[in-house]
Amino acid sequence: MRYSSDGICPKVPNFLYPMQKIVLLSESLISRIAAGEVVERPASVVKELVENSLDARAREIFVWVEGSGTSLIRVSDDGEGIASEDIPLAIERHATSKLKDEGDLFCISTLGFRGEALPSIASVSRLEIVSRTRQEEAGWRLRVEGGKREEPNMFGCPPGSTVEVRDLFYNIPARRKFLKSPSTELGHISDVINRMALAHGDVHFQLHHAGRLLCDYVAVTHFQERLRQVLGPDVAGGMVSFLWSKGEVKISGYLSTAPSSFPNSRYLLTYVNGRFVRDRVLTHAVLEGYETLLMKGRYPAVVLNLGIPFEEVDVNVHPAKIEVRFRQRTEIHDAVVEAVRDGLRREAKGQAAKTIWENEQAFSGTRESPTSYGKLFPEGSLPLTKTVSVEAGPDLGIPGRGFFSSLDVLGQLLGCYIVCESPQGMALIDQHAAHERIAFEKMRDQLARGGIERQDLLIPQVLELPFPEAQVLEQWCSTMDHLGFTIEAFGPNSFAIKTVPALLPAGDYLDVVRRMVTEYAEFERSAELRHDLEERLMTIACHSVIRANRRLGREEIRALLVELDEIDFATQCPHGRPVLLEFSQARLEGMFKRT
Ligand SMILES: Nc1ncnc2c1ncn2[C@@H]1O[C@H](COP(=O)(O)OP(=O)(O)O)[C@@H](O)[C@H]1O
Ligand SMILES: [Mg+2]
Repeated sequence: MRYSSDGICPKVPNFLYPMQKIVLLSESLISRIAAGEVVERPASVVKELVENSLDARAREIFVWVEGSGTSLIRVSDDGEGIASEDIPLAIERHATSKLKDEGDLFCISTLGFRGEALPSIASVSRLEIVSRTRQEEAGWRLRVEGGKREEPNMFGCPPGSTVEVRDLFYNIPARRKFLKSPSTELGHISDVINRMALAHGDVHFQLHHAGRLLCDYVAVTHFQERLRQVLGPDVAGGMVSFLWSKGEVKISGYLSTAPSSFPNSRYLLTYVNGRFVRDRVLTHAVLEGYETLLMKGRYPAVVLNLGIPFEEVDVNVHPAKIEVRFRQRTEIHDAVVEAVRDGLRREAKGQAAKTIWENEQAFSGTRESPTSYGKLFPEGSLPLTKTVSVEAGPDLGIPGRGFFSSLDVLGQLLGCYIVCESPQGMALIDQHAAHERIAFEKMRDQLARGGIERQDLLIPQVLELPFPEAQVLEQWCSTMDHLGFTIEAFGPNSFAIKTVPALLPAGDYLDVVRRMVTEYAEFERSAELRHDLEERLMTIACHSVIRANRRLGREEIRALLVELDEIDFATQCPHGRPVLLEFSQARLEGMFKRT
């Protein structure tokens, strides 16, 4: 048997064993390969060290970084500390205090459990651990360089641990080359701190870089405070809390309401039992929950924690523990969709009377929800042990029902905006967006209740299509029928439209169907049927309702407002455009510089 010498490629056959190609790797090479999985970049080190501090129940976690983490990462905590006899073990591979037997592996409540982080980090850096438990008089210091450790020595220090990582990847120059610019790496580090901070409102986090304090998140009692610290007042100000539970599944957090949205999913953060995870199922479910409330390509701000029994989720599927696997994927997906929708629905009902255009003025406390539950995901398993009430959603004490019909209509502007006096000040309603939303919600409702009401056309309208589109329509005739359009072949590449949804006002249906066919052609490429079906509905709604620039009579306006009160999500059109803009008295006064 041959061993490779450290770092040397064992491909060249030795003359003694001309045929042998397989060799056992040396210990140090093995650990560097293993480290590659856990320690991808400086931010991974920060993540692992902070996770250890959180597992040790620290209340203060301070991080110092130099050279964007390549020269120094120091994480200091006031946690439980490591006992003197455990110190040498902490840097041994597969040594952990968090798992005892196989049973534990499928019921993990701590952030760490693989016993890999410290040895992995130690094999690619110069590492020093200083730690002391509350029970011991003095602490211990242990140094490791490139995986080789010195004897621990006694060291005076306060209770808690400080782990210092210098010269990361000094012994793997190739890995250094993969690092991005210093500012990008630093950005990753602050992302890590932010994600952890959002899951632990009761912990004080600090991040220093090159002597500058970048983040200082003091412990908070109201989670909304932490949201503001981490996401800033503008983003946090547009978010409301939500709580949802069914059986053992508890979903809670904060979500952005219309009209805030973002060009990427940066603020879409999902946690499972307090652990930050990137999970396609969860992200998809959140977006599906928003469905038509966001414009295409826009994302919400969401901080969502899914609390489920530990045995329902396998966290041991990714070395950096950032991905998980659910036992009941579909159920979890649907629960999250429901939780998000429910939160948004409550908000839309309660918030209809709120001034929706004011979130540009930062967060002034007006949106503060009475549902403050201190920390979002306190103490590991809280979402499982504490019963939260589904009814406890945000109730802002504003009667949602009747908001629109209670408005005092002043008139119509430019043939497309309805100007009203509201209890807050002035309300402007986009009549086209309002009609769209009403038609959309009604059709969705009819569809859910078993079928779209239809109207027969006295004279069928004949639609001629180019060959490829005709093919598409032929294929989708039954879906069209489901949506209220009876369409029959009427000769080569032409079709007769015989019935249309009763909701559509009289007019030219050819254009509506033509547009739907174009959408269908796209649809073939996408996967989620339910979602797309609704997109189709939206399209119909958008092209069937009263177009902008039409004078409405007083009665028509009143009827429109009453209808707006009857539907969910009245403040957004199905494309995510706002239906209502409200200007409070204070804002008007501000605009006129009267304050
Ligand atoms: N900051 C800390 N405070 C207290 N104990 C720690 C700290 N960091 C590491 N440890 C101890 O060292 C062990 C090994 O850490 P690590 O390699 O990250 O593995 P894991 O976290 O998976 O157990 C932990 O199980 C824990 O007992
Ligand atoms: Mg760990």
